[in-house]
Amino acid sequence: MIEIENLIKVYRRGEIEVIAIRDVSLKIEEGEMVMLLGPSGSGKTTFLHLLGGIDRPTAGKVVINGKNIAMLGDKELTDYRRRDVGMVFQFFNLVPTLNALENVMLPMQFISVPKREQKERAIELLKMVGMEKRAKHYPDEMSGGEQQRVAIAVALANDPPILLADEPTGELDTETGLEIIKMFKKLQESGKTIIIATHDLRLAEYATKILRIEDGKIAESKSIGEISKLGHSENVK
Ligand SMILES: Nc1ncnc2c1ncn2[C@@H]1O[C@H](COP(=O)(O)OP(=O)(O)OP(=O)(O)O)[C@@H](O)[C@H]1O
Ligand SMILES: [Mg+2]
Repeated sequence: MIEIENLIKVYRRGEIEVIAIRDVSLKIEEGEMVMLLGPSGSGKTTFLHLLGGIDRPTAGKVVINGKNIAMLGDKELTDYRRRDVGMVFQFFNLVPTLNALENVMLPMQFISVPKREQKERAIELLKMVGMEKRAKHYPDEMSGGEQQRVAIAVALANDPPILLADEPTGELDTETGLEIIKMFKKLQESGKTIIIATHDLRLAEYATKILRIEDGKIAESKSIGEISKLGHSENVK
């Protein structure tokens, strides 16, 4: 379970202060598929970075299975990032000089998985995302949707219980985006906890929980109907 308590993130650049997350408290159960919906600049990426241990909160707690990751030392936090969470980004984030197979093997290298095992597992993961035939291909030889599928395999390399995705369909056409979301749904059904930030209201129907973020404040939305209304007023603004 993920328990967030009074989470605050303030960015300071000289005189200017931006409050990106304002006193957020919420719980996410194991095995949920959470959609984090909100306009540009509302704090989605910041929130995911705090959950993923990429950034540290200014105040508050991020308790994951009883452990407050805000209190971890640098070494423990690195370990958390490598083993406990997988991250999928908008721009696919593959290493351009490595082929698909090597990209998927890389996170396993960081935690010293034996080479043979790295390869076996990477092949298995590429099969799972339907990319085994492209194992030897480099990122620039694949389409956006294909790169994103490989990026999901990379995020799953060390079998983390939590997957975080930051607008994973933002660069994809509607149909390819939907395929990626269905892939996340299958992973959720296999027991992973998934949190996806998106602008795309159509993805909300796949969620077990919908969170609306606006100006750093997060509220839970009960239904897609409620979301559609909010989405509409947002478009009108
Ligand atoms: N490193 C930083 N330094 C200063 N301000 C920042 C920094 N990163 C983000 N911000 C600010 O924090 C707020 C939230 O940004 P964030 O990137 O989390 O929004 P977002 O919801 O992901 O937006 P988008 O949909 O455009 O990706 C914004 O006002 C942004 O300008
Ligand atoms: Mg963002």
